Amino acid sequence: MELFEQVFSNNKKWIEDKKAVRADFFENLSRGQNPDILYIGCSDSRVTAEEMMGVQPGQMFVHRNIANLVPNNDNSSASVIEYAVGHLKVKHIVVCGHYYCGGVKAAMQSSDLGILNPWLRNIRDVYRLHKEELNTIKDENQRYDRLIELNVQEQCVNIIKMAVWQKSYLTTGGPDIHGWVFDVHTGELKDLKIDFPRIAAGIREIYDLGTTKS
Ligand code: CO
Repeated sequence: MELFEQVFSNNKKWIEDKKAVRADFFENLSRGQNPDILYIGCSDSRVTAEEMMGVQPGQMFVHRNIANLVPNNDNSSASVIEYAVGHLKVKHIVVCGHYYCGGVKAAMQSSDLGILNPWLRNIRDVYRLHKEELNTIKDENQRYDRLIELNVQEQCVNIIKMAVWQKSYLTTGGPDIHGWVFDVHTGELKDLKIDFPRIAAGIREIYDLGTTKS
């Protein structure tokens, strides 16, 4: 049987498994959500947001797109962040990239990919911002890995630029922003330990939207 044909029977089995652990599992879910984490990751089928983190339904708000981008003029990711921070009051925002990312690889090459061009241009911009560091890396695979990490960092910086995050951070001290990378080759999740309070303080003079002024 094709995988596609198994989906509905898999679903029935999953319902039984959940109910075996907790009979009112779905009744409880239907009462609402109160996730602590907003996860922004790549659409890549190998990077399974909830499964790789052991996160259960209701615990994490998720947004996925090609190469885990938060472009400055993207209404989709902006709406997700607005809702997660402003309404769900998540405590943590994670931008999770992954090694072997096809989106980042494509942005390193000279090829015309149609509608993907403006989307992947965001990664070319990351390359330009960090060209000096990246061009010192002679090994192409190592340079590719580093661009993946720097892309995560710059998407986190894009979140710092947003009014909803600034307002929340300046009044409550959160949510924290985390940059992670998943290694498809080992299954390991790596915290890039990016110092966001320092980065936020360093760029505040440019991006401060005055959200706490009355
Ligand atoms: Co990817």
